[in-house]
Amino acid sequence: MSEKAWSGRFHEPVSELVKQYTGSIDFDKRLARWDIQGSLAHAQMLQQAGVLSEADLAAITEGMQQISAEIQQGTMPWSLDLEDVHMNIERRLTDKIGDAGKRLHTGRSRNDQVATDIRLWLRDQISLIVDLTEKVQLALVDLADEYAEVVMPGFTHMQVAQPVSFGHHMLAYVEMLGRDVERMQDCRHRVNRMPLGAAALAGTTFPIQRETTAALLHFEAICQNSLDAVSDRDFAIEFVAAASILMMHFSRLSEELIYWMSPRFGFIDIADRFCTGSSIMPQKKNPDVPELVRGKSARVIGHLMGLLTLMKSQPLAYNKDNQEDKEPLFDTVDTLVSTLRIYADMMRGVSVNPENMRQAVLQGFATATDLADYLVKKGLPFRDSHEVVARAVRLADEAGVQLSDLSLETLQSFSPLIDQDVFSVLTPEGSLEARNHLGATAPVQVRAQVQRWRDKLVWVDTDNH
Ligand code: ARG
Repeated sequence: MSEKAWSGRFHEPVSELVKQYTGSIDFDKRLARWDIQGSLAHAQMLQQAGVLSEADLAAITEGMQQISAEIQQGTMPWSLDLEDVHMNIERRLTDKIGDAGKRLHTGRSRNDQVATDIRLWLRDQISLIVDLTEKVQLALVDLADEYAEVVMPGFTHMQVAQPVSFGHHMLAYVEMLGRDVERMQDCRHRVNRMPLGAAALAGTTFPIQRETTAALLHFEAICQNSLDAVSDRDFAIEFVAAASILMMHFSRLSEELIYWMSPRFGFIDIADRFCTGSSIMPQKKNPDVPELVRGKSARVIGHLMGLLTLMKSQPLAYNKDNQEDKEPLFDTVDTLVSTLRIYADMMRGVSVNPENMRQAVLQGFATATDLADYLVKKGLPFRDSHEVVARAVRLADEAGVQLSDLSLETLQSFSPLIDQDVFSVLTPEGSLEARNHLGATAPVQVRAQVQRWRDKLVWVDTDNH
């Protein structure tokens, strides 16, 4: 059982420490399902090419079915002596079916095998990630729909800038996630290419038919250079880059949820089931989930740096360094999947406090630009009107009141162009409605965007999987 596949070349067995250091079975057994998928397609191709007999193929198929069942039931005996998932499965197959199992590896190497496994696995994960991201988008669209008319302060430099619709703010994230979905889908095309046939690095002397294997595995394309096929992991790096951007977006949203929930803001509340208390301060309700999302974005970004660094000094072709690609990749997928699942749920547990948002708008001179625009429409050049409004803001600030609290007379002392109709311009709602064009914050525009996204997301089903 413990005999290595290459034992013939060596005078002594590998040391225990080396076995532990070089083994990957503890983590790469996760690829078993995809390893078997790849092996079955390879075997079928070999049979069609006349390299394997029909009897061998039948035995391999039957043996692999048994192994799949054992893996599912948790009875597959994984062994560190056999180093990795590929050799564990091959040995198990040989134990079950004899020589046919030993013939499976004809015309192939673990180098093209592992690259194939990762790609098969990753393309499935990307599809799942796209689905889950769209669920979060739908939850945000629902919030945008419900709160299209709610005004909140829009910030620049974290200073109150202009009123925006809360729905508009939610839709900003829907846009970001929409590009994340595009990046994932685009990256999937480059993941979905088949290395199998490259063998160790140079191809094989057997009459393989790579098109057949690729068709059986539903690959979109075949890697065209054997050295490249076994060595580069750019497809994985690209995926983790897209994942990092996605996590960065969630980290930003989390940051906002965290301070919106602070009693100093009181803009939102997050349902208790997503929060925790403090062991010492009885009054505390902490937004742990968004804080952890913000924190977990760091590990995904770290994995991106890890994979880039792993790759950057490797000469062609395969090097064992590449075994280190798996844990960061697995952890990236696990982090994304759990983050997306919890986020879709959590956003449905967000409640909004429109009154506090409106109060914050009123306290920040958020409609100063509206007053400036008003004067421009009455004929004043924008730079002059900016100056006029700045002086009015200074006066109101010193008096501790809002622009709309100033009397018409006072306002007119800054510009005779100001009239009674100015007061509708100074309300947060008036400000919102006045920005009525594509991409702006007027509630009718927000609703149009909500509809646009609903049409795009029409296939998303809302139960969690
Ligand atoms: N466990 C290895 C990996 O993850 C499989 C490929 C090993 N190839 C080799 N020539 N040692 O990369």
